[in-house]
Amino acid sequence: MPPKLVLGMNQHEKDVENFYSKGARRVVKEGENFKHFSEGFISFGYWEPGDTYVDAAKRLLRFFIDNSGIKKAGRILNVACGYGAESFAYFKKFRPGELIGIDITQAHVDYANWKAKELGVAKKVKFVHGDAVALDFPDASFSHILGIEGPAHFNTREKFFKSAGRVLKKKGELLLTDIILGEKFRKWNPVHQIVLRAGAKGWVVPIINGIKEKEYVKQLEGAGFEIVFLKRIGDKVFPGYAGHFTEEKRKENRKRMSFFAELGLTKIGRMLGYLYRKGFIEYIYVKARKK
Ligand SMILES: C[S@@+](CC[C@H](N)C(=O)[O-])C[C@H]1O[C@@H](n2cnc3c(N)ncnc32)[C@H](O)[C@@H]1O
Repeated sequence: MPPKLVLGMNQHEKDVENFYSKGARRVVKEGENFKHFSEGFISFGYWEPGDTYVDAAKRLLRFFIDNSGIKKAGRILNVACGYGAESFAYFKKFRPGELIGIDITQAHVDYANWKAKELGVAKKVKFVHGDAVALDFPDASFSHILGIEGPAHFNTREKFFKSAGRVLKKKGELLLTDIILGEKFRKWNPVHQIVLRAGAKGWVVPIINGIKEKEYVKQLEGAGFEIVFLKRIGDKVFPGYAGHFTEEKRKENRKRMSFFAELGLTKIGRMLGYLYRKGFIEYIYVKARKK
């Protein structure tokens, strides 16, 4: 389905939506029902030996929830919620009065709203098409903001931190997984710069979001947050993700996508593994509290 664009959306957001809408064409509609190739997950996963992609994606979500320290939530905003797979798990576990998912890809939002109806939770779990950077919600209207792997795309991530700080209540919590630069990345090195620019272009990420942990923490603090924890889990994410593009998996993927899409996906996956081994990228799980 062609992407419906949010009024006033800029070129970057249109590009992100286009990027993810290509993947959304692999979601099959059978009558009134959708069928998703990976149970609605599109994260990189948290891998243990023998995992399939869906095992790893579920494991990442479980890791996120089990380590969140959240007992109960008042009202949750789920940023970059994708197809809503994580949203329904947050709703079940944290029993908020309401959960709103926001995503820039219309096809994701349509699927998630359909799924909410299927699960009988549509009164309390709603999905909106929009930009997480420009949050159109009143000040202090959420107890928690949660999200897996979206912020690297945001234009910019730092502006999103400020928006998140505005819509969170005092002592409200922001929990994210995110991709940042690794400690071995050298900004002054032209080869590293070429790699960064190529990676950012391929995954539709603003170059300005290419920061290391220290700067990440500084940006969160600058937006009025204190850090509760920051866990580096790249070793559980990138090698497993890169390694799962076996010949068998590639054959399976070719049934669902074009020759070039499959090649592109495999290349990105393997490239991530390489960049992590070189220390150029890191995957983090961060929890911050609004002061
Ligand atoms: C890697 S996917 C992760 C999706 C989901 N969290 C998951 O783990 O399955 C990144 C998601 O971020 C969304 N996204 C990117 N930029 C966004 C923005 N500015 N505002 C809201 N969502 C955005 C994309 O549409 C996509 O669904």
